[in-house]
Amino acid sequence: MTRTLEEVIAEIKSRLNIVDVVSEQVILKKNGGRYWGLCPFHKEKTPSFSVNPQLGIYKCFGCGAGGDALSFIMKTKNIEFMDLIKDLAQQFDIEMPAHFQKQNISKDLKNDMMTACEKAAVFYHDLLINHHSEEIKAANDYLTNRSISREIIDKFTLGIAPRAYTTLYDILKKDFSNEVLEKAGLILPSKEGHGYIDRFRGRIIIPIQNENGDYVAFGARALYKDQTPKYLNSSDSLIYNKSKLLYGLYTAKDAIKQEDGVILMEGYFDVISAQAHGIENAVAACGTALTSEHVKLLSRYTKSRRIYLSFDTDSAGQKATSRGATIIKEAFEGLGDIKQFDESYISTSDDKYSCEIRVISPPEGKDPDEFIRTVGAESFKKIVQNAPLLLDFQVNSFLKHKKEYKTPQEKSKYIKDFLPVLAEIHNEIIRSEYIKMVADALNIDEKALENEVAKLASVSSLNAVPQQEIKKIVTKNVSVSEKAQKNLLSVFLVNDSPFTFAQIGEMIDDSHFSDETLINVKYTIDKLICTVNNVKELIEQLYTAYIENPEIQQVLTDLTGIAETFTNLSPEDFKSVIEENIRRIQRCRWEEEKEKMRNLYKNADEDDTEALKIQMQLRDKINNRIKSEKIND
Ligand code: CTP
Ligand code: MN
Repeated sequence: MTRTLEEVIAEIKSRLNIVDVVSEQVILKKNGGRYWGLCPFHKEKTPSFSVNPQLGIYKCFGCGAGGDALSFIMKTKNIEFMDLIKDLAQQFDIEMPAHFQKQNISKDLKNDMMTACEKAAVFYHDLLINHHSEEIKAANDYLTNRSISREIIDKFTLGIAPRAYTTLYDILKKDFSNEVLEKAGLILPSKEGHGYIDRFRGRIIIPIQNENGDYVAFGARALYKDQTPKYLNSSDSLIYNKSKLLYGLYTAKDAIKQEDGVILMEGYFDVISAQAHGIENAVAACGTALTSEHVKLLSRYTKSRRIYLSFDTDSAGQKATSRGATIIKEAFEGLGDIKQFDESYISTSDDKYSCEIRVISPPEGKDPDEFIRTVGAESFKKIVQNAPLLLDFQVNSFLKHKKEYKTPQEKSKYIKDFLPVLAEIHNEIIRSEYIKMVADALNIDEKALENEVAKLASVSSLNAVPQQEIKKIVTKNVSVSEKAQKNLLSVFLVNDSPFTFAQIGEMIDDSHFSDETLINVKYTIDKLICTVNNVKELIEQLYTAYIENPEIQQVLTDLTGIAETFTNLSPEDFKSVIEENIRRIQRCRWEEEKEKMRNLYKNADEDDTEALKIQMQLRDKINNRIKSEKIND
């Protein structure tokens, strides 16, 4: 079925969910009927960026940016409207009208790269399970040694890349250009300068899938002891960005949602072991440190933003834990408190905290993979269940070394790095309890510790401006009349208003508007209200109508913002909003005219008959005005 462009756009809009779209780039937190986050269009530490799912729009109260799902993608990804429509049509499998169908070269290249990666994964996997050679045997023995069953090998499409130089290339070059294979990171130009060789050789192949299950990259583990590096990973490419992809997410997605939590591990085999043993909500970064992009990705799948850090127990792993915790805290900064104590008896709301970080550090085994294999998955699950909150973990690890510090100087130096942890505790009673505990353990004066913590806490509370206070609309220098006109026009955009569009239309006359943009928008509203069913649709269509005009879109955003302040009014109050603004507009107009008259009068000659006429007109106006004010009062 071929559709018109308008139909395609409407279909795309109906498939886009503003919260999902924005969540790809902004961590959102629900608060009432809205979502809040840090604005992607200006730098801020406290969220003033809001998403209204009922109306399908976003708005920043800090910088004034606003729009709908399409304009959000256009702005954040810097894409033109038609390019975006074509992209989304392809993504949603919606056929574009014939004359808009254009070959998209980079899209085709990406698709080819993904197909090549998938073919490579299947090829390596087939070699491992269906073929025989000394290397293939070594690979199978290696995996058996790691307790990796055939089932797991299949689930993760594990494979083997032989040591020979062109095993993969010889097969794939029949179907793919060198450009595609090289860009996909599967082959490299040979050092001798002629021809290509396989990138991965003599290694166990761990294919990496993106969130949608497309094969986009590979991790390749050394098969032999002296082989370096231990892991060889695909570099970033057109289809692979390590800082935005988590290994195992595609298969873990559902479990993460179900458990409302995710376990972050360090290695590919940690995730493989965990998922293979029924701990399905485990993922790992691919040969890179955790980034805020990873955290954003995860926060889309868990409501409570519960993240378990399950890194190696060696010192590198412990460093990764504290670095990871910092990244997570930074990503959620300004969105509220991080959960610091279990208080399920007080509140069970998911929205109460910006995130919840728990740390898994099993006493045995160097990493989750080893623990699960040697101690067992059931024990691991228990550890997950009882995993301490970050705060308790930090306090415990801090106190573990307390015996090493004996002199006052040593103690004071040692505790300095730990003060921020205590200062961050937002509940005063809990904070004083922890202070007491630490002071006792280190045998230092509790009051002194409390003072040191208080110093730090007062500095950090200066930075934490409560959310409500900053929700001020940027006040531009608009005239009273323009403001009143905007108020009046915004009445059309009030969700669930007590009047129909037609009724509102009757109360508001074109003649009230003198601002050119507002006249333009009013005209479009008049046209649209005949066809739309509700305010959401009206707003959507308005944004589409002005998609090429950011200035008018900005005005739309102002209008929807004003409209929100008029929701839930009684019919009487709603009417008086309209009347009051009409009155204000008239008053302004009258002032303007009076000013004009005054100027004319000032410039006229004294004995001029014209002057007399003006003077009389002016008096009439003033008299009429006084009369009408009396009637209205
Ligand atoms: N890593 C890497 N390059 C290396 C070493 C490690 O990219 N040279 C990455 C891999 O993603 C690896 C993770 O860091 O999975 C964790 O490293 P490590 O703990 O050394 O690997 P394990 O997965 O425990 O390795 P093994 O196969 O020995 O269990
Ligand atoms: Mn490890």
